[in-house]
Amino acid sequence: MTSRRQFIKRGIASGLLALPFTEIPALSYEEQLKLAASDEELFELVRKQLHVPLDRIYLNTGSLGPSPIAVTDAVANRMKQLEMNPAIENWGELGNEMEGVREKVAVLIRANKEDIVLTRNTTEGLSLISQSLKLKKGEEILTTTHEHGGGEVGLEYMAAKQGAVIKKIQIPTPANSKEEVIETVVASITSKTKVVMLSHVNTLTGLRMPFEEIAKITKPKGIILIADGAQAPGLIDIDVKAMGVDAYAASGHKWMMGPKETGFVYWSKSLQEKISPVFTSSGFSSYSASSGTRNVAVIAGLGVAIDWLNLIGIHQIEKRCLEIRNHCLSRLKELKGITIISPEVDSLSTGIVSFVLEKGENKTVASELGKQNIIVKVLPKYNGIRISCHMFVSKADIDQFINALSALI
Ligand SMILES: Cc1ncc(COP(=O)(O)O)c(C=O)c1O
Repeated sequence: MTSRRQFIKRGIASGLLALPFTEIPALSYEEQLKLAASDEELFELVRKQLHVPLDRIYLNTGSLGPSPIAVTDAVANRMKQLEMNPAIENWGELGNEMEGVREKVAVLIRANKEDIVLTRNTTEGLSLISQSLKLKKGEEILTTTHEHGGGEVGLEYMAAKQGAVIKKIQIPTPANSKEEVIETVVASITSKTKVVMLSHVNTLTGLRMPFEEIAKITKPKGIILIADGAQAPGLIDIDVKAMGVDAYAASGHKWMMGPKETGFVYWSKSLQEKISPVFTSSGFSSYSASSGTRNVAVIAGLGVAIDWLNLIGIHQIEKRCLEIRNHCLSRLKELKGITIISPEVDSLSTGIVSFVLEKGENKTVASELGKQNIIVKVLPKYNGIRISCHMFVSKADIDQFINALSALI
């Protein structure tokens, strides 16, 4: 007798893949992904589970990632469940689910649940950390000229209040080796440096910062090492303890493809002893007297996004993003009139590739691409364009983008 699994598998092989996902009967999102016979089929199915229309090429996950149907359905269902009995649900079944999300985040970044705070985004997380820092006049915070405003705003506020100095170093663009990046950061550390804040995956270039090596220098000096992880979870594997960071803040609504207004902070035990924001003064919990009421449906949706990513596997995702990015990079290198600013060596690379236009305006090019349903991010400071190669982007999508771009530059 044919089992259900064999039946479905035969169905997929014989053309179910050609149907829109919503028209495939009796298959859960999870079942579909599990039944993919090859990597190519898996990522085609992933693509079909998004709301992004199939004729749209979405290359801007770095700004906001598209949530899959599994996540939006889960949020909608939980919102309805909440509204049927708000207080009971919020501090009952659904509320408990939020605590489960803290655990899932902890597993994702190899931390302990007690050290995780759920936030609304990276900016909020980094602001909580910054506002708790206690620095003396003239002490230094080291960061780079390539940071995102969301990471800088909290540091600037705190530095202005306490008379601390922010020093910004220039990371080579493109960076050619890990050693070159480490050397640039380490060379700027002085006896006054008390905090180092760097992006794990850089928002402009996609550069993956070698935190492990940098922590080996900062830790013995008692320097607080903070990672802006906005662009990392869902794109690369993360181990905060191996990285040696004191704090790590990220968003759930970019590469994790979670609901909008989700994020988290990891706070090492040793940092918790030194500084603590009002937000956690009543304890580390998704609901506490100091956090107040949370958006339980949205937070639960982040947990569903993590489960969905885990079905595919973070290593598999990381590999796929690099493969698509390598394809994009090699096709971009065929073009005249652009300069690549992302690193090319594997040890510094991620699924992001950026370039600068030698003539013409990035805004005009992006808007012309937009008219062809190809969505990219402009980099204002550099007259540049950033391409986010998440797993749902195919090589054919990249080829279509390259053809469109080559006609515009
Ligand atoms: C490196 C980095 N940090 C912080 C942010 C801000 O993220 P959010 O708006 O989710 O707080 C971004 C957004 O693009 C980013 O790339």
